[in-house]
Amino acid sequence: MPVHTSSTFAPAAVLCGVAGWVPPRVVTNDELAARLDTDDTWIRTRTGIRRRHIAGPGQATSDLAVEAGQLALRNAGFDAVGTDPVDAVIVTTTTPDRPCPATAPAVAARLGLRQAAAFDVGAVCTGFVYGLATAAGLIASGVAARVLLIGADTYSSIVDPLDRANAIIFGDGAGAVVLRAGDSDEPGAVGHFDLGSDGTHEDLIMVAAGGSRRRSEGGQLARAERHFAMRGNEVYRHAVTRMAASARATLSGAGRKIDDVDHFVPHQANLRILHSVADDLGLPRERCVANVDAVGNTGAASIPLALADAAARRVIRPGDRLLLTAFGGGLTWGSCLLTWPELPPPTRPYDPIVPYDTGVDAPS
Ligand code: UT7
Repeated sequence: MPVHTSSTFAPAAVLCGVAGWVPPRVVTNDELAARLDTDDTWIRTRTGIRRRHIAGPGQATSDLAVEAGQLALRNAGFDAVGTDPVDAVIVTTTTPDRPCPATAPAVAARLGLRQAAAFDVGAVCTGFVYGLATAAGLIASGVAARVLLIGADTYSSIVDPLDRANAIIFGDGAGAVVLRAGDSDEPGAVGHFDLGSDGTHEDLIMVAAGGSRRRSEGGQLARAERHFAMRGNEVYRHAVTRMAASARATLSGAGRKIDDVDHFVPHQANLRILHSVADDLGLPRERCVANVDAVGNTGAASIPLALADAAARRVIRPGDRLLLTAFGGGLTWGSCLLTWPELPPPTRPYDPIVPYDTGVDAPS
């Protein structure tokens, strides 16, 4: 579904702050291989992942979200303590602190935001792009002049640590952006959107139990029902075709070509997926921002974390034209355009991997 947020809508949402944060504990492929039937070579060549950060005991999604949110507000030049620099806080996550209430109000309170509207958006790994569209809508309608959008996920809370197919992929993390009301033609303006879903494939990515469909009465749920399940191979194929189609729909809706894109910033699902999408779009792979090697798939956090890391490394510079594309459970997908604004470079969210070489296989 194309969603038009061009000059017919005013004001536009303009990005004015960014940050990423990951918990300090690093889990390497070798550490996983010590307890699972897997090895570093398989993980690296099939996914491009070398390590991931995992939340410590008692560390919840809101804890990660607060860290990223605070850094993003600081990057935007706002001191959250004792003031209300934003009118709304959106947390997009698949791993809320608990089923009820939403995670965003607690995050807002801990950031010292006493008056802001606060709610969660759920679109699994597409959450950040859906959240951007939601924030743009709040700003365009005049409901909010400034919005803090945080993508945060603690997949370690839903992935079975004994499931080798998923434990190797996912990491925990948070990324955040601050958006303000501005003009659609100024740097930072969040541009044309494409959002979509196909719920006929809801079974491809799922936590089967714990909601109203399959209730956890008496704590009798089977282990598999309580944990995250993904039919990886089928998801892989959908991810490549849906992300490429969404990226194309966004470009054509905005009257742009792939050559107009300086950096493609996709959801960090798997390096082979990212390269396949880039190849399909005719985009040189070096213009595809990838940090999946260092953090794994961090769900709703992955795009803002990739943005924060690339901006900190000066890979993304003011004036660069970005295409953001995500895909996730639901199925859901979405894309949007963004010209990078003048910002103080954010702090690097994590230590780099040196040398930068994923060793990933060519896509099949
Ligand atoms: O973020 C939301 C969207 N998510 C994604 O986009 C993820 C999409 N899927 C993927 O990234 C890939 O499908 C995976 C990384 C999950 C799996 O890679 P694959 O190349 O599709 O592997 P596969 O599922 O086809 O499995 C190939 C083989 C199987 O063995 P057999 O049946 O051929 O003997 C698996 O049992 O690899 C085996 N395998 C493993 N071997 C070693 C699966 N996981 C592992 C593992 N280590 N961790």
